[in-house]
Amino acid sequence: MKSFIAGLPKAELHLHIEGTLEPELMFQLAERNGIVLPYENVAALQAAYDFNQLQDFLELYYQGMDVLRTEQDFFDLTWAYLQKISRQSVRHVEIFFDPQGHLERGIAFETALNGIHSALVKGEQEYHISFGLIMCFLRHLDEEEAFATLEMALAHKDKIIGVGLDSSEKDNPPAKFQQVFAKARHEGFWLVAHAGEEGPPEYIYEALDLLKVDRIDHGNASMLDPALVKRLVDEQMPLTVCPLSNTRLCVVDDMKHHPLPQMLEAGLNVTINSDDPAYFGGYLNENYEAISGILGNSAELLAQLARNSFSASFIEDTQRDSLLAEVDAYMQEQNSP
Ligand code: ADE
Ligand code: ZN
Repeated sequence: MKSFIAGLPKAELHLHIEGTLEPELMFQLAERNGIVLPYENVAALQAAYDFNQLQDFLELYYQGMDVLRTEQDFFDLTWAYLQKISRQSVRHVEIFFDPQGHLERGIAFETALNGIHSALVKGEQEYHISFGLIMCFLRHLDEEEAFATLEMALAHKDKIIGVGLDSSEKDNPPAKFQQVFAKARHEGFWLVAHAGEEGPPEYIYEALDLLKVDRIDHGNASMLDPALVKRLVDEQMPLTVCPLSNTRLCVVDDMKHHPLPQMLEAGLNVTINSDDPAYFGGYLNENYEAISGILGNSAELLAQLARNSFSASFIEDTQRDSLLAEVDAYMQEQNSP
């Protein structure tokens, strides 16, 4: 199965670029920028990656991103990620960045944006990995700050395809961001939001009805509400599920109990993603490997997840058709003697 997964063409739709900051690179950038990290070495830092909930992780994630200071730092971060996934048969990525996590440290919007974007352009040229860049609002901050961030993005519509909503979900419902999402929609951005990771099914309803999102990030809590499942199935609303993230953040207690098989069984349009791979122990292939067992190591179900990733991508239909054809060709190759 490992080699089948390694060769399977796929897209990544839920990845925080700041969450790809590997400990080794964190130390290198700290040194380059004259920053002293509160950890002796890589092993001591990794030992701290022991989370009981989303908030435990977010504290380290925001602390870690402090080493990102220059455009070159953001480029190096993104390039390291692209080098990794160029060996994972990833054909297309739609990645998040958190401008407010950088603005509050005095890093200009353009410093982060240009560093990330130029690496993505190079990745498209050298590895033929197409991309979209999605800017997330930090939901623990208020809507006014999200509006100010959206204003900054308006000058960069050529580089940013969508807006999302991330950070601490509990007590920060999608409803809090209804106006700014309306404005983003009016400006023509694709819309996504984290909902139902730690929050209740109501937050998924709010993301659908108030924010009018095009995809739900995570969406695990939908399984608590049969009427919501039916609606998501009827609308074929994509859910970007993140298996290793779910176990590391204790959203699911054990991979054996991950709801993915039931989600597929119900007809939900689920995709597999890595969220913050440097913190959760695996990139895209490792996430597919992590759920292969609970899907009975079914090549057909894994291929369906890969097909879903292309169906749920914000790409032109011609590109979608050719990526889906690649999956078909790969499956035919597997089945021929
Ligand atoms: N920011 C980075 N990773 C996140 C996650 N899994 N949930 C919410 N906010 C995030
Ligand atoms: Zn996420």
